[in-house]
Amino acid sequence: MKRFFTLTFTLAIMFLVTACGNVAQKPVVNTETPEQTTTESSAQTTTEPAAQDTKETSKDTPTKKNLIVYFSRTGDNYEVGNIEKGNTKIVADIIAENVDADVFEIKPETAYPAEYKECTKVAKSEKENNSRPKFVGQIENFANYETIYLGTPVWWGDLPMVVYTFLESYDFNGKKIIPFCTSANDHFVLKESIEKAAKGATVLEGLGIRGKRCQENPDSVKTDVTDWLKKVNG
Ligand SMILES: Cc1cc2nc3c(=O)[nH]c(=O)nc-3n(C[C@H](O)[C@H](O)[C@H](O)COP(=O)(O)O)c2cc1C
Repeated sequence: MKRFFTLTFTLAIMFLVTACGNVAQKPVVNTETPEQTTTESSAQTTTEPAAQDTKETSKDTPTKKNLIVYFSRTGDNYEVGNIEKGNTKIVADIIAENVDADVFEIKPETAYPAEYKECTKVAKSEKENNSRPKFVGQIENFANYETIYLGTPVWWGDLPMVVYTFLESYDFNGKKIIPFCTSANDHFVLKESIEKAAKGATVLEGLGIRGKRCQENPDSVKTDVTDWLKKVNG
């Protein structure tokens, strides 16, 4: 009998210990709840970076549909002497004042010589060798742009080779290119060269401006550019 009580007592103690053990496990469950919270919070954490990612992406993603891309050279140039702001850049800046657009400058990795004659030699050799000089940087989310205003000087009756590099670096399918060129006269636009290089793009007629006018009579250039923009944008 005594043994029976001892056994019952022992079993009761064991039960209590087990029960307490279960209670003691509850915090584990509770800990699991925080863990779930942690999981939730890690889900949030997962969500948060995702949200941040979206934010970052949306920051990087251009909301603008227009992009102005130009190449322009400073230094000694045809008819204008030593200039601090390139002729094509002057036109690009006027367009940027009038169109809601992002801007990308095509900067060659190796700068062209500042001296005019030297530059023409380098440009000639690049053209003869059909070179594709590299440019610095890249355009994020190029696909999002619909219209590209493309500015370039005329070099040896053609696009500078670095502009070819640029045009061959992106998918222009379905894009609209609106060219603007500066050169020794007021009408030179390299529509056909651009069409060949930017495959799939629709290239509009564009605007040709004499480089000298950009330096010496910027107001007349401003008038021409704004009138032309009204025409091309309806
Ligand atoms: C290397 C080189 C080649 C050029 N070739 C021509 C040309 O073939 N025809 C022309 O009309 N002007 C030519 N020019 C003059 C430029 O097209 C003109 O000065 C242009 O406005 C320069 O633009 P930027 O200042 O934006 O570089 C040439 C100039 C350079 C530097």
